[in-house]
Amino acid sequence: MLKRCLLTYFILFLVFFIPQISFSCPQDQIQSLLEFKNLLTLNINNHYTTVITLEGLETWKPNSDCSKWQLVRCNTRFPTREVIDLNLHSLVFSGSVSSSILRPVLRISSLVTLDISSNFIQGEIPGDGFVNLTRFISLDMSDNSFNGSIPPELFSLKTLQRLDLSRNDIGGTLSGDIKELKNLQELILSENFIEGDIPPEIGKSKTQSQNSNCNMFSGSIPLSVSQLMKLETFDLQNNSLSFEIPDGIGKLVNLSTLSLSLNKLSGGIPLSIQNLTNLETLELENNNGLSGEIPTWLFGLQKLRILQLGGNKLQWNKNGSVYAQSKLTHLSLRSCGLDGTIPDWLKNQTALLFLDLSLNKLEGSFPKWLADLNIGTIILSDNKLSGSLPPSLFQSISLLVLALSRNNFSGQIPDTVGETWVMILMLSENNFSGSVPKSISKIHRLMFLDLSKNRLSGGFPRFDPESLLALLDISSNEFSGDVPAFFGSNTIMLSMKVLGLTINSLEGTIPEGISNLKSLKVLDLTENNLGGSLPSSLGNLTGMKESLPSSSSPLPFMYSFTIEIHDLAVNWKNSKQGLANRNLYLYTLIDLSKNKLFGETPYSLGNLKSLKLLNLSYNNISGLIPQSFRNLEKIEILDLSHNNLSGNIPQTQSKLSELNVLELSNNKLTGRIPESPQLDRLNDPNI
Ligand SMILES: *[C@@H]1O[C@H](CO)[C@@H](O)[C@H](O)[C@H]1NC(C)=O
Ligand SMILES: *[C@@H]1O[C@H](CO)[C@@H](O)[C@H](O)[C@H]1NC(C)=O
Ligand SMILES: *[C@@H]1O[C@H](CO)[C@@H](O)[C@H](O)[C@H]1NC(C)=O
Ligand SMILES: *[C@@H]1O[C@H](CO)[C@@H](O)[C@H](O)[C@H]1NC(C)=O
Ligand SMILES: *[C@@H]1O[C@H](CO)[C@@H](O)[C@H](O)[C@H]1NC(C)=O
Ligand SMILES: *[C@@H]1O[C@H](CO)[C@@H](O)[C@H](O)[C@H]1NC(C)=O
Ligand SMILES: *[C@@H]1O[C@H](CO)[C@@H](O)[C@H](O)[C@H]1NC(C)=O
Ligand SMILES: *[C@@H]1O[C@H](CO)[C@@H](O)[C@H](O)[C@H]1NC(C)=O
Ligand SMILES: *[C@@H]1O[C@H](CO)[C@@H](O)[C@H](O)[C@H]1NC(C)=O
Ligand SMILES: *[C@@H]1O[C@H](CO)[C@@H](O)[C@H](O)[C@H]1NC(C)=O
Ligand SMILES: *[C@@H]1O[C@H](CO)[C@@H](O)[C@H](O)[C@H]1NC(C)=O
Ligand SMILES: *[C@@H]1O[C@H](CO)[C@@H](O)[C@H](O)[C@H]1NC(C)=O
Repeated sequence: MLKRCLLTYFILFLVFFIPQISFSCPQDQIQSLLEFKNLLTLNINNHYTTVITLEGLETWKPNSDCSKWQLVRCNTRFPTREVIDLNLHSLVFSGSVSSSILRPVLRISSLVTLDISSNFIQGEIPGDGFVNLTRFISLDMSDNSFNGSIPPELFSLKTLQRLDLSRNDIGGTLSGDIKELKNLQELILSENFIEGDIPPEIGKSKTQSQNSNCNMFSGSIPLSVSQLMKLETFDLQNNSLSFEIPDGIGKLVNLSTLSLSLNKLSGGIPLSIQNLTNLETLELENNNGLSGEIPTWLFGLQKLRILQLGGNKLQWNKNGSVYAQSKLTHLSLRSCGLDGTIPDWLKNQTALLFLDLSLNKLEGSFPKWLADLNIGTIILSDNKLSGSLPPSLFQSISLLVLALSRNNFSGQIPDTVGETWVMILMLSENNFSGSVPKSISKIHRLMFLDLSKNRLSGGFPRFDPESLLALLDISSNEFSGDVPAFFGSNTIMLSMKVLGLTINSLEGTIPEGISNLKSLKVLDLTENNLGGSLPSSLGNLTGMKESLPSSSSPLPFMYSFTIEIHDLAVNWKNSKQGLANRNLYLYTLIDLSKNKLFGETPYSLGNLKSLKLLNLSYNNISGLIPQSFRNLEKIEILDLSHNNLSGNIPQTQSKLSELNVLELSNNKLTGRIPESPQLDRLNDPNI
């Protein structure tokens, strides 16, 4: 009876106590995690710019079982459940936190995976913290601001399979000890400042060449990497590496991604890459020193999907013929010395999403088969292509980016243009003529439109106020008619320089409604026949009133596009400056020079505090220079020459600290020339 009783107690004990006591995570790990949480919280209290989310972390409470916490995963070991996975991705939204917050987390020696990516962490990686992590498999510290070099302790994590330190500020060279990570499958170090060259003494100095191991210990990254037999992803894009791709790379039979774009590589594409039959991505773009012939066998790699070779000194093999076994999705052969017509082996590349053949010497017409391939991005700028565009090109629902600038295309822009979903349409510096189809304003998502330097004529179609159009350049054509007032509040740049005869250019006045263009940053209407006076609503251009931080982008998601918007240019400091996408906020300007504007300068122009250039020269503007101009605190260039201005030159206060070009000649101004610390050039005004 007693025995039965005891047995019952024992069973009760097992049922009620074990799950609660024994299957809980260790106290010291609970403490470590709470310490991490406290450090984070302390950080927001100390630095008011730091913003964190407590989502998930709110479940981290003292006296509770951490195996039940969010962001934490434990194993099922008996008697304690140890923490194995921590997903601490993106807890911090802004500001900065010190890399020392990692220390308590790294004390959890049972850790198998740690994701601490996107947390605004600053400072060096606390290498000594990693010494006890003997089961570590995956470390993701990407998208922070870690600096210094990769600590040697990381190379002793023999179990590591995945190391992602991309998008940090890590410098130094990569130690040859990387070869110790025998289990590494993914090595992702892109977007850092890692340098690495094969030390020049290799193979030269006698003392070193006698040592057969010298290559392995000389910090020569590629040779060490070719010992990482399990490697599948090798991504060192956008660093400052300067080695030759070693032959040994061909030994990494499981390699599927080799990304070395945006470095300083030299040498050629080694033959051994032929043996990488699992290769899906080969990115070698923008390495100035990479040279030699592009081997045609690359297209025989059946699994290859992404091949980016542009921006090197690589040359197309003119004698070789291509029998593409691969079904590419991305192909860049920018500046690879291609000539003749657009290669027709591309015909069966039916999976293509991205094609960049710009900066070559391609001739002939835009083939209909290419138009029918349904490619998303087609970049053929800077070639010698001619003829008209196949109408079916614009009937593809896939087309997002079409860049054909600086070719010799001619004929009309097909009527079908309104049927696309294209977002970026760059047709400048060709020989297109006729009128622009009205349907162009129906393109739903059109954001960048550059039709400059063609022979287009007629009126320009009206865009909806809701249109997404951000950049419009129709300059140097033969358009006529009014300045269309309504482009939509998203428009950042309006450039309408029109060449040609008087009767064929833009006339009328600058519409009052111009201030509806809330985002406008660049208003370039130089060399037209605009009359009337300057509307005072110009002072209401919101985009020129406030200076936004240079980091903020008008179109955040545009960053995902790989093409540079180098086609757009404005008149800046007497030279043409390209409006690269990222530079948009560097230029805030109004250029209305060479028109027939008259009347007085509106006082409201002084509201445009972020304006950097104001050129009103070669008009017939009269009256005084408004006192409000002293509020143009960002102005660098002010050209009011060749007008009918009179009265005193206003004496400025210190606010015009950026002014460095002031042109007032050919007016009827009197008085002293204002002083500005930056003023280095000053045309002698005719006083
Ligand atoms: C790393 O960043 C921290 C904090 O920003 C700074 O104090 C330290 O000097 C930097 N170290 C290196 C090696 O640049
Ligand atoms: C590593 O483990 C040893 C022995 O348990 C301990 O003394 C040391 O503090 C640990 N180091 C770290 C960084 O956790
Ligand atoms: C390259 O990296 C730098 C920072 O290291 C970054 O600013 C830049 O945008 C990157 N370039 C590309 C094309 O990713
Ligand atoms: C390549 O991957 C396969 C399948 O994952 C694996 O069996 C093989 O061991 C790997 N090869 C090497 C050299 O690691
Ligand atoms: C490719 O691999 C084979 C056998 O695995 C080897 O004999 C050959 O030398 C390799 N080719 C190159 C160019 O490395
Ligand atoms: C291409 O072929 C021509 C003649 O057949 C030859 O002279 C030339 O050297 C070859 N070029 C290359 C790069 O093989
Ligand atoms: C493309 O055509 C070539 C013949 O020109 C053929 O050998 C190859 O298999 C085709 N590739 C694909 C992906 O269909
Ligand atoms: C452009 O093409 C036209 C034919 O459409 C031709 O007459 C002209 O010579 C070409 N111009 C250049 C620079 O190739
Ligand atoms: C533009 O096309 C016309 C024929 O339509 C041709 O006469 C002219 O030479 C071309 N202009 C250029 C610059 O190629
Ligand atoms: C400028 O904007 C203000 C406030 O929105 C408005 O009251 C004023 O009428 C506008 N001025 C012009 C000239 O459009
Ligand atoms: C202002 O515009 C005129 C005419 O377009 C140009 O000649 C002049 O150089 C410009 N002024 C400055 C300072 O850029
Ligand atoms: C400029 O405007 C004045 C009146 O302000 C007028 O008398 C003069 O004729 C105009 N000059 C030109 C060239 O239009």
